[in-house]
Amino acid sequence: MSYGLLKGKKGIIFGALNEQSIAWKVAERCHEEGAEFILSNAPIALRMGELNGLAEKTGSEVIGADATSIEDLEKLFDAATAKFGKIDFILHSIGMSINVRKGKHYTEMNYDWLEKGWDISAVSFHKVMRVAWEKDCMNEWGSILALTYIAAQRTFPDYNDMSDNKAYLESIARTFGNYWGERKVRVNTVSQSPTMTTAGSGVKGFGGFLGYAEDMSPLGNATALECADYCVTLFSDLTKKVTMQNLFHDGGFSSSGVTQRVISKYDAE
Ligand SMILES: NC(=O)c1ccc[n+]([C@@H]2O[C@H](COP(=O)([O-])OP(=O)(O)OC[C@H]3O[C@@H](n4cnc5c(N)ncnc54)[C@H](O)[C@@H]3O)[C@@H](O)[C@H]2O)c1
Repeated sequence: MSYGLLKGKKGIIFGALNEQSIAWKVAERCHEEGAEFILSNAPIALRMGELNGLAEKTGSEVIGADATSIEDLEKLFDAATAKFGKIDFILHSIGMSINVRKGKHYTEMNYDWLEKGWDISAVSFHKVMRVAWEKDCMNEWGSILALTYIAAQRTFPDYNDMSDNKAYLESIARTFGNYWGERKVRVNTVSQSPTMTTAGSGVKGFGGFLGYAEDMSPLGNATALECADYCVTLFSDLTKKVTMQNLFHDGGFSSSGVTQRVISKYDAE
């Protein structure tokens, strides 16, 4: 179902890797709602070639950019403004931790890997906004979003240094969001339920995460498609004064102390 919520809006979507990616679903829904956008991902991800299918389906151009490289981002934003003029929305759907990937325990963290993962998962959001800021390429009442996870507020074993990266990311949204206010642009993070994607399934014990979150969420876990629907509303003109927020999109998980489903499991023992 389409409501035409993004008719005439232009944007950049970072982070669609394959059909499971949250950014992939966001791109599909933005297209259905009438938006035009550029799809971007790291050059190494583009080599896998899957993104071309999404580009074809949504009539989009693909432009590679390592989101940690100011030079790559400058080229990307120049191409976007040459194509669209000023733009209306940006989705940052980027995350990676080498410590998680290599199974390095948090207590034995490799700091070189931490720095790389922090740059990719958190500082890249600052870099994206900085380049957009310097090039003055956002329209008034534009919307900038990044995806995050509740491990920024609560501990989840094996989410490892991504917890700290997400806390940093959410802080950047608030701090930079203040300055963007001067230009009538909003900046928020969406804190999504655990979702079966390439990044998600890299976390040890992810199946357990998913099942527990499902039982702890009165509405159940939010899917990637439901997350995409929510992002559409946040890019639309219906949410103009929402800014500098971390918005939980998690079926109620973040407000639950315990649920009957969890109690019943323990009562049965
Ligand atoms: N899957 C979950 O359970 C979950 C839950 C909450 C939040 N999130 C967040 O959602 C976002 C998207 O993740 P996903 O679950 O869709 O997984 P995904 O693996 O599909 O997406 C991660 C993306 O980051 C990109 N990326 C990595 N390094 C990059 C770089 N240097 N430059 C540009 N792009 C780079 C990857 O190529 C990939 O497209 C991440 O921020 C993730 O932390 C995921």
